[in-house]
Amino acid sequence: MILVVYYSWQGHTEKVAAALAERVGAGLAEIRPVSEVGMFRKGMMSMLGMRAPIQPVQADLADVDHLVVATPVWSRKIPPYVNEYLSRVTNGRGKPFSVLAEMGGSGGENAIAIVRKALEAKGMRFVSSATTIESDVDAGRIDRTIEEFARTIAKAPMPAV
Ligand SMILES: Cc1cc2nc3c(=O)[nH]c(=O)nc-3n(C[C@H](O)[C@H](O)[C@H](O)COP(=O)(O)O)c2cc1C
Repeated sequence: MILVVYYSWQGHTEKVAAALAERVGAGLAEIRPVSEVGMFRKGMMSMLGMRAPIQPVQADLADVDHLVVATPVWSRKIPPYVNEYLSRVTNGRGKPFSVLAEMGGSGGENAIAIVRKALEAKGMRFVSSATTIESDVDAGRIDRTIEEFARTIAKAPMPAV
């Protein structure tokens, strides 16, 4: 089972995550904040790498063969809700993961590196990453990126049992 987990405040990451999940036949799970903090704190908490409370969401990967984390880029980093999710991940050891970063224009590689470091610290194995740009999502120009990213996920060997 491939699981695409995403957080999306304004809907762009959700669109990309849903398109990817459909393309690879994955389950889709949304990271929902307990409450959205204000704009200033969004920027600040992301910049400082902080966490913020989220509602229950699948973080136990016992039944998952490949995890995809889809996140917006905030302050060239990732939202506090995604940090919280990453800290909750269990039973990921030896399993492959991929990362998708959705952004206004810059900082995607840095955001991807943050997710990568957090999951590799849990013994997971990085497979691939992709970035999308807000204006491309709005214009419906993400098909090729999704297609190429999906191919890297489908090709990845499943974990040994
Ligand atoms: C607090 C905050 C910080 C942001 N920082 C960045 C940034 O550093 N680089 C960037 O390219 N876009 C940045 N953005 C823009 C978002 O990444 C972009 O709007 C993205 O499409 C949002 O995804 P969503 O619609 O799923 O919430 C920021 C947005 C917010 C709200």
